[in-house]
Amino acid sequence: MEKEINIAILGSGNGSNAQRIAEYFKDNSQIKISTIISNKKDAYIITRAENLNIPCRYFNRNDFYNTDNVLNYLKEKEIDYVILAGFLWLVPDNLLKAFPQRIINIHPALLPNYGGKGMYGSHVHESVIANKEKESGITIHFVDENYDQGQTIFQAKCQINPDDTADTLAQKIHLLEYEYFPKVIEQVVANQNFNNN
Ligand code: GRF
Repeated sequence: MEKEINIAILGSGNGSNAQRIAEYFKDNSQIKISTIISNKKDAYIITRAENLNIPCRYFNRNDFYNTDNVLNYLKEKEIDYVILAGFLWLVPDNLLKAFPQRIINIHPALLPNYGGKGMYGSHVHESVIANKEKESGITIHFVDENYDQGQTIFQAKCQINPDDTADTLAQKIHLLEYEYFPKVIEQVVANQNFNNN
């Protein structure tokens, strides 16, 4: 029997990717979504976690940046991977050190374009549309100490039509995210853990 892999999902908002990932791995015998963490007390991701019956914790800025509270909780839960799904803060150093190449983020554009501080949610899609880009997409990448700069793992593209708006582009991007994010997580975990033959 292979080792069980425990995943924590961190989010700040709606949590639709978190839900999709949790549903994808629901019947997986090796990969388990063991907890969902929110840094916003009233984020909808918390309600989703409750509905999914996944243990959920709220941690504030002090917990993240001035203490080991989050790290200790992840250790207590024996977490192997941390997935950022709409998590809007920089990951603190203590977590980066504890999870090298084990923290994965999804960004709703084709990095290195349209990334960095302030480039989140609808701001990204509004900029892409304003610049009359012909395509956009998603980037799944390892996380480092900078916003949206870690090593790229995977990208997928979508076309932008002349009548697309930030809203319709966001919908296209979400479909790509739901399709690929769980599969890419599964692939990374398999490559790093289950290919020892
Ligand atoms: C997604 O578009 C993701 O790429 C970005 O934040 C958004 C989160 O959406 N990092 P949701 O909370 O998963 O619905």
